[in-house]
Amino acid sequence: MLERLQKIISAAGITSRRASEALIQNGQVAVNGIVVTELGSKADPTKDTITVDGKTLKISVQRLYILLNKPPGYITALKDGQGRPLVTDLLKDVPDRVYPVGRLDYNTEGLLLLTNDGDWANRLMHPRNEIEKEYHVRVRGKVIDQQLKRMAEGVELEDGRTAPAVVNLVKSGEQNDWISVAIHEGRNRQVRRMCEAVSLSVVRLKRIRYGSLMLGTLRAGQFRHLSEIEVRELSGEPAKTFPSERPAREVREKSTRSIHPARPTRPERSGGKFSGRRQ
Ligand code: URA
Repeated sequence: MLERLQKIISAAGITSRRASEALIQNGQVAVNGIVVTELGSKADPTKDTITVDGKTLKISVQRLYILLNKPPGYITALKDGQGRPLVTDLLKDVPDRVYPVGRLDYNTEGLLLLTNDGDWANRLMHPRNEIEKEYHVRVRGKVIDQQLKRMAEGVELEDGRTAPAVVNLVKSGEQNDWISVAIHEGRNRQVRRMCEAVSLSVVRLKRIRYGSLMLGTLRAGQFRHLSEIEVRELSGEPAKTFPSERPAREVREKSTRSIHPARPTRPERSGGKFSGRRQ
C-alpha cells in the first residue's frame, strides 16, 4: 500500500512528520537507491527499501484484514465532500489505515472487506479470479420466474451484457419478495441495474457472501479480523464457489423457486440446479 514518505519515516520512529519532510527535501532519503526530494512522494513500506542517510528503515507493518458489516448510509470512499459517514469511521481501535476492497453503494449493506495489504486487495479484485459475491435483495412486490430467468441468463446494460448469474427466490412476503443474486463481475451498481433491467424495484440490498466468506452473525456496524486461513482461502486458488454449494445452503433451504440459465455447471449435483457459469 503506497504511503507518503514522510509518514513512513515518522511511523518508523526516526523523527516527527515535519522533520521527516526536511530530511526528504535535504536529499537524505532514498527509495530503492534513488534519492527522492519531492514532498508528497510515496512508497510502499512493505516492498520498497527506504533509506535515511544511507541507513535502511526498519518498518514493521502489521497486515490487517477486516470484515465489516456495513450499515446503509455509509460510504466506502475514504473522504466525502458532502460530509457523509465513512465506513472507516466504524473501525474504532484499528491501528493502521485500511482501505475497502472494492466498493458498496451508500445504501448497500453487508459484507465489506478492508485491508492495508494492497497486493491482497488487488488479487481479490482481479477479474481473472472471478470471485463470486452473493447479495440478498428485497424487491417491491412480487417477482415472476421470467424476471429471475432473465437476470440469471444475463441482461443488457449500458456497459454491456452481464455474465450469467445464479438467481433464487429466497422468501416471499406480502409486500416484498427477497431474491438472492450471485455474480462474479464487479461493475458499478451492478445488482441494482440488473434488477432495474427486469423492472424490479430494489428496496434493500445486502451482500451476504464474498467467495468462501459469509457475513455471518455480525451486527450492522460491527467488524472482525479475518483468520489467516480465511485470508489465504480468499486469495488462493480462484474461489469458484457456487451458491448451490456450501455458503448458500441457507438460501436454498428457504428458496421456493430457483432460476438459473440453461447450462448445468455441476452435473453430479443435480436436483434441478443449473447455472450458466463457465467451467
Ligand atoms: N451491486 C449494486 O448494485 N450495489 C452494490 O453496492 C453492490 C453490488
